[in-house]
Amino acid sequence: MTLSPPSPTADTDQIRQKVDTLLEDFLHTQENSADLPELDLFIGLLRDHLAAGGKRIRPLMCITGWYTATDQEPPPLIYRAAASLELFHAFALIHDDIMDDSATRRGRPTAHRALAALHAHHPDPDTFGINAAILLGDLAFGWSYDLLHATSTDAGNLTATWPVLNALRTETLIGQYLDLHAAGQPTPDATLPWRVIRYKTAKYTIERPLHLGASLAGADPDLLTTLTAYALPLGEAFQLRDDLLGVFGDPQHTGKSTLEDLRDGKHTVLIATALARATPAQQHLLLSHLGTPQLTPTAATAIRDVLEATGARDIVEQMIRDRCHRALEALQHAPVQPQAKTHLQQMARRLTDRIS
Ligand code: IPE
Ligand code: IPE
Ligand code: MG
Ligand code: MG
Repeated sequence: MTLSPPSPTADTDQIRQKVDTLLEDFLHTQENSADLPELDLFIGLLRDHLAAGGKRIRPLMCITGWYTATDQEPPPLIYRAAASLELFHAFALIHDDIMDDSATRRGRPTAHRALAALHAHHPDPDTFGINAAILLGDLAFGWSYDLLHATSTDAGNLTATWPVLNALRTETLIGQYLDLHAAGQPTPDATLPWRVIRYKTAKYTIERPLHLGASLAGADPDLLTTLTAYALPLGEAFQLRDDLLGVFGDPQHTGKSTLEDLRDGKHTVLIATALARATPAQQHLLLSHLGTPQLTPTAATAIRDVLEATGARDIVEQMIRDRCHRALEALQHAPVQPQAKTHLQQMARRLTDRIS
């Protein structure tokens, strides 16, 4: 069966299936190779996290990155690299949910909440849940590297992955740090939120996964630069959409709460834009509610009204359209294999015009 992408949608399903099979095979091997009954709990939670959904964007970008440089079918190593990104993502989300004090992820209790509920008899179940979920995330982080290095025959080819994976890891963690640092003190200045978006999302979700696949296919520096020109505006648009969904989305579709970003006082481009355009009374309303731990649904509705009345919501929608357009433009004369180009165009639309 060929995987060259004549139909991006069908291909997306195939890639997802292959990646999910690799992940399950890996977890199954871990389950059977260690004589540690306690590991079953952790593996079960990772399985639940993966089975609950997720768009598998980073694996898809990695495989598409390969196809930007060649029309050859990817060898097994590329799929392992893609699956390894999804295990890294499990780590990133499990720790993110602790840091953001999130109750749900992919429509289910977050790992730390699930672990707390499983150990309700513990003297301090909440702290236990957080600490155990830190360990679960650490395990996923370590295993993302084990999965990539599962066979020694690829050792030479893996050299191409080191600089990209090092960059991905460092940038993502710094992006997360900046996000935490900025939270609780939103201002009308959007400089910091743009930096947060670049590192915690645009590079992490689009640029580096594309670079990973393309580097393994032997991409030259010009191709990597072109992929960056596509990835950064698209990644920005993707996170702007995430921020809008985090406030205005439908939790049934997103699987996430619409109160948490407001309660955490996340300093997003959406909030900065609203603060910059708000009347003194609207500014007062925003600043007195954002970042309050007991934020009520009524206060959240009042904040949403201000985000609409100031025009911030519409402006962010326009920013998403502009960035999607820039990403597509970057592809126009790009030295990218035509089928991969079609796939990238389709992904740009899917990632920016979404409800989950
Ligand atoms: C969520 O990522 C974290 C961000 C960087 C915005 P995704 O939106 O890719 O989450 P899943 O994997 O589909 O659940
Ligand atoms: C998470 O960002 C980014 C990473 C995990 C690297 P957010 O905190 O904005 O994402 P969600 O909304 O919880 O998915
Ligand atoms: Mg979060
Ligand atoms: Mg976060």
